Parts: sequence; structure tokens; C-alpha cells
Amino acid sequence: MGIKDILIERIAAAMQAAGIPSDCSPMLALSGKSQFGDYQANGAMGAAKQMKTNPRELAQKILDKLDLDDIAEKVEIAGPGFINISLNKHFLAGQLTAKSEQITAKPQTVVIDYSSPNLAKEMHVGHLRSTIIGDALARLLEYQGHSVIRQNHMGDWGTQFGMLIAELELHLGEGDQANLALNDLEVFYQQSKKHFDADPEFADKARAYVVKLQSGDAHCRKLWQKFIDVSVAHNLEIYKQLNVGLRKEHIAAESSYNDDLGNVLSSLLEQGIAVDSEGAKVVFLNELADKNGEPSPMIVQKSGGGFLYASSDLACLRHRVGTLQADRILYFIDARQSLHMKQVFITGRKASFVPPTVSLEHHPFGTMMGADGRPFKTRSGGTVKLADLLVEAVERAEKLVREKNPDLDDSEIKLIARKVGIGAIKYADLSKTRTNDYIFDWNAMLSFEGNTSPYLQYAYTRIRSIFRKAGIEAEGFSAPVSIEQAQEKALALKLLQFNEVLDQVAADCYPHILCTYLYELASAFMSFYEQCPVLKDGVDSATQQSRLQLCALSATTLAQGLNLLGIEVMEKM
Ligand code: ARG
Repeated sequence: MGIKDILIERIAAAMQAAGIPSDCSPMLALSGKSQFGDYQANGAMGAAKQMKTNPRELAQKILDKLDLDDIAEKVEIAGPGFINISLNKHFLAGQLTAKSEQITAKPQTVVIDYSSPNLAKEMHVGHLRSTIIGDALARLLEYQGHSVIRQNHMGDWGTQFGMLIAELELHLGEGDQANLALNDLEVFYQQSKKHFDADPEFADKARAYVVKLQSGDAHCRKLWQKFIDVSVAHNLEIYKQLNVGLRKEHIAAESSYNDDLGNVLSSLLEQGIAVDSEGAKVVFLNELADKNGEPSPMIVQKSGGGFLYASSDLACLRHRVGTLQADRILYFIDARQSLHMKQVFITGRKASFVPPTVSLEHHPFGTMMGADGRPFKTRSGGTVKLADLLVEAVERAEKLVREKNPDLDDSEIKLIARKVGIGAIKYADLSKTRTNDYIFDWNAMLSFEGNTSPYLQYAYTRIRSIFRKAGIEAEGFSAPVSIEQAQEKALALKLLQFNEVLDQVAADCYPHILCTYLYELASAFMSFYEQCPVLKDGVDSATQQSRLQLCALSATTLAQGLNLLGIEVMEKM
């Protein structure tokens, strides 16, 4: 049990003993400032309101019943009825010594839909956020003991594919190799779009090919497969460079739901959830009606018989619930698709594709902006390819690492540069509140100061160098902790909050909370290291061992936290 749980249990018991109704919560929170103790219980105010009594007197009654002798060194009432708790150093030291791997009380099967790019074009910066944030949550939930199923809902089935396979057919007819023709997917897309717009015959063919493809025509299917193979290979390469855990086996593309679309439609029609509207099959949702009371329409089948994005998302829901047996399904998709997700979720529940016990969660995010405050673009206004962005990140990091560390050999610099550059891009994204837009800024993300990945990686290397200097193996180091100095206490308290923070991120899917925590942990370590000598002469052996143990725990917690964000650490930088 973590500190927070222990405190909540004790305070709840005291509240009950003080005659407070059991639905009143202790409202435990971390104190914002150390002069107010380490934790604050703010439940007396709410309870007093409900019981129509004086909050400060009620706080006193709770305090009279509260037994924290073994945990706290000071408990006092402040302001209108806050209970401020300063934890006892021996208790913290004991908790640190007993600190063990977290065991998840209730492991769930969690399906995570992330990255999910459209395959018609090359991956661009617009795919970065879903890929990075989703991957962090997958790692974190897996670490907590949940069974995580990664699902890459790639877009491989839309109308654009008619145009693309018609273009490919043209190239192959001229004797080109598929690989060569598709060498640059961006150029290929532009070519086919040009043909589509300029040549009506080509456009008709393209439209006919979509229908043929979706109804299983062998020729179209073969061309399509060639295109998809090249595009998927490109994406898998990006995931590898990004240190993202998506592999081929996680691909569950839109096309994979094709055979079930008819069943979904009949089920919706039978249940009267979808109705005919000018030849199309549409679900009208009163739940999402506009200001004038007009229901929100979601088309499931076009009048020509074609299915859409929404149709495959409904089939996909059935798959995730029925076959994958999900308890919880997380979607990391741009905020602009919020209405779409609401429509799919409401319809899925109405049609009983999803039982009430399964949690459906769209976790939206904002847009990555350029320095000018507009969506991030190349200088000429084009979309930035992800592959180019990653190359630039590593190049910039290499320059920095070389400046700071001219003595390292070249291969080592290259290795470090990759971890620093990729880590910087990922952390810059993860450390911002997910739902906001953020400005992409090379200098800020690669800075060795402030809440950045290089700062955290650097803090890690500093701790590791302490062990190297002492000639002690950091891995598996274990010694009893004793806490004397305020900086030791602050560091111990931070270290003990790691699992609490993970629980919070797991529940709300806001990775910036973990980033803020890691930054505070690194800062707490730096202050500790300034004030509390470890290897200096005159430090007695027991104190030295205890401080080394604080160092070791700081290093493992930093590395583990960064690892959950998909960021690698190194011994030197
Ligand atoms: N391919 C879509 C896009 O690029 C995102 C898919 C998200 N997942 C889903 N199940 N709809 O916009």
C-alpha cells in the first residue's frame, strides 16, 4: 500500500469515528508548499457543509480521533479547516526500504488504438502525437500488469485507393517496378492526384476501382496489396526509429473489417437504429442534437452501397469487445474527430455491440504548431514528413553532444545523439497537457535545462557517474535508508510517489503528469546532491550508504519513468 492509501484509510476511519457520514471523502492532496506539510486533508470543509456545522471545529474532532503517531511528525489544522500532515522521517525511510514492485489489484484487458495513419501518403508530423502518447500509455498500462492489446487502425480502404491503384497500374504497364514507382509516396500521391483531376477517363477508372477493390476483385486487390506493403514497410521503419512498440502484428487496418460491414448494417437496421434516408442508411442521434433540436446524422452506408469510416469503426468495436474481450478501449485520436467518436460510441452502445461494463474512451489531443502559431509546416508551406523530422532531430542532437563531449568516440556520439534527439521530440510532446495545442521548438526541447528530456537524461548520467567514481555497482545496490536533512526527506517523498503518479496517468491518460513528476524528482535529486555530500571525506559510512541508496533509487525511478514514456537513457552524455 502506498503512502496515499495508508493516509486515506486512517483519515477515513477518524472521520467515521467523529460521526461524519461515510460518503464524505478525506480529500487528500499533496501540499503545494512544504510549510503546509507534505499532505493536506481537506475533507472537513465538505463534510461540515453537509452537516451544517463549523468546519474548523469538525477538523478538530477528526484530529482527536486521528492516529498518525507512527507516520507523521506533525499534524495541524490550518485556515478554515485544512488538516496539514508532515510525515515522519523514519516512516519514509522504512517505506523506501520496503519499496517493492507495484502489483495491480485488478488487471484489465486494455485495447489501445493509436498511431493509425492513413496509408495513402507518407507519415507526417500530424501522426506524431497519437503515436507517441498512445505508446506511452501502452507501456505504462503494461508495466502496471494490465494485458495491453495495441491496435493500429490504419486507413487503407478509402476512396483514394482507387486513384492510387489506377496510377500504379499505369506505372507497371510502362514496365516500372512497384518498389521504384512507390519510392516516394508523396510524389506518387501528387502524380495520381494530378491524373485524377486532369483526365476524366482516369478519374472514372479510379472510381470504378474503389468499388471493385471493396468487392474483392482480384486484379485491384493485387495492385492495392503492392501499394500497402510499401507504405506499411515505411511506417514500421518510422516506429523503429521512434522507439515505438508498434509492429506488424498490431496492424488491424480498416480493410480487415470489410467482411463484417454487412452484418453491422443489418443489425442496425433490424434494431431500427439505422434508417433509410434518400437511399443511404443513416443513424440519427438525438443524444447529439444541435441547438435547433436536429439529431446528429451518421451515415453507415452511402446510397451507392459504399461503406464509410464510421461503418468500419462500428465493426471494429464489435471485434474489440467480442473477439479481443476488452474491458477498456482507449482511442488516441485528434480532437477534430471528437464528434465522430461520440457517434460511434453512442451507436455501439445502443446496438448492444458494447456492454455497459466496457469503458470506451476517446483521449483527444491538440495540434502541433510552428513558431508562428500555425500548424507546423515546411518553409514552403508543405506538410513535414516524419522521416525528415526525425533525421533533423538526431542531427541537431549530434551537434550538441559533440560540443559538450568532444572526447567521446564517434560511434558513441551517434548512439547518444539518437537517444537524445528522439527523446527530445517525444518528451516535448508528452510533457504538454495533451488537450492543448503546443508550439514545436527545437531549441527549447533540446535544452539541457528545464523540463526537457536532455535534462532528465543528464540527471540520470550524473547519478550513474557517482557510482562509477565510487567503484560500486549501481544495479541491485541496497542499503538501509536514514533521513536527516530536509533535502533527503523531499527526495524520499518524491521517490515514494512514483506509483501514485502512474495510477493517475493510467486513469486519465495525461502523460504530462508523469513528465512533471520526473522533472520534480530530478530537481529534488539535484538539490539533495548539492546539500548532502555522498563521496566526500568525512561522511560516515552509514550516511554514505544511505545516500547512495537514495541515488540508486533516483536513477532507477528516472530510468523507469523515461522508459514508460518510450525514452532511452545512457551512461554518459
Ligand atoms: N486513420 C485515421 C486518420 O488518420 C485515424 C484512425 C483512428 N482510429 C479509429 N479507430 N478511428 O484520421
